[in-house]
Amino acid sequence: MISPVRKMFDGIACRYDFLNHFLSCGQDILWRRYCCRQLKRLGAGRRLLDLCGGTGDFAVTYEKLCVNPDMAVLGDFSFGMLKGSAGKKTVATPVQLDAMRIPFAEASFDVVLNGFGMRNVPDARGALQESFRVLSPGGYLCVLEFFAPRNPFNRFFYGCLAPVFIPLLGAFFSGKKEAYEYLVNSIKRFLPVRDFCQMAETCGFLVVKVKSFNGGISYGVFLRKPLEGSRG
Ligand SMILES: C[S@@+](CC[C@H](N)C(=O)[O-])C[C@H]1O[C@@H](n2cnc3c(N)ncnc32)[C@H](O)[C@@H]1O
Repeated sequence: MISPVRKMFDGIACRYDFLNHFLSCGQDILWRRYCCRQLKRLGAGRRLLDLCGGTGDFAVTYEKLCVNPDMAVLGDFSFGMLKGSAGKKTVATPVQLDAMRIPFAEASFDVVLNGFGMRNVPDARGALQESFRVLSPGGYLCVLEFFAPRNPFNRFFYGCLAPVFIPLLGAFFSGKKEAYEYLVNSIKRFLPVRDFCQMAETCGFLVVKVKSFNGGISYGVFLRKPLEGSRG
């Protein structure tokens, strides 16, 4: 059976990029850029998986600002979203896959990106464990995400402003009000960033860096799979 989340993303795929940039006032582009520049500073490698990669913007940014991958996969379960990557400047091969059961062998990738996907999977721990499995020792997982609001500014933004203007604008431009109601609710229901980092540690990751963007509207979380036989 096709999951409701997958159906929802198939339904908004054709307006996804536009609404993403419009609703974040272009900030999503800057957040992805920051993450990719940071991965370059960390020395992230050449085998890339953009997990929950949607229309491929994270992979495109990685290739432009970090390294030219030897091998790159754009993995997502929504065929509609993957189709949106057509014509973009990326060498990534689109693969329809479930983040909860990634169809690649252990240690297949040096870097896994996950932009705004963790909140949408049925079980963030499962997706973390799968990402850990397919990463090579020393590899990085970069999670760019909207986490549950904790500070007063975020609580106000996600509690009062976002539930009004995001579904309204989403409905106007895509005709899919429910998808944008889901967006706001999924953020409020998700883990706070600190709990997510603790969960990542219990999955074996080292937390390398947590970067807050725009007062905590979103975060970039940089996780590393330890080298074999070491704690880093
Ligand atoms: C908000 S979009 C993010 C797209 C892209 N990463 C970006 O930065 O704009 C979330 C994506 O996660 C995908 N997704 C959600 N659950 C998934 C799962 N279990 N397996 C694979 N992809 C999933 C959706 O289809 C959607 O394309």
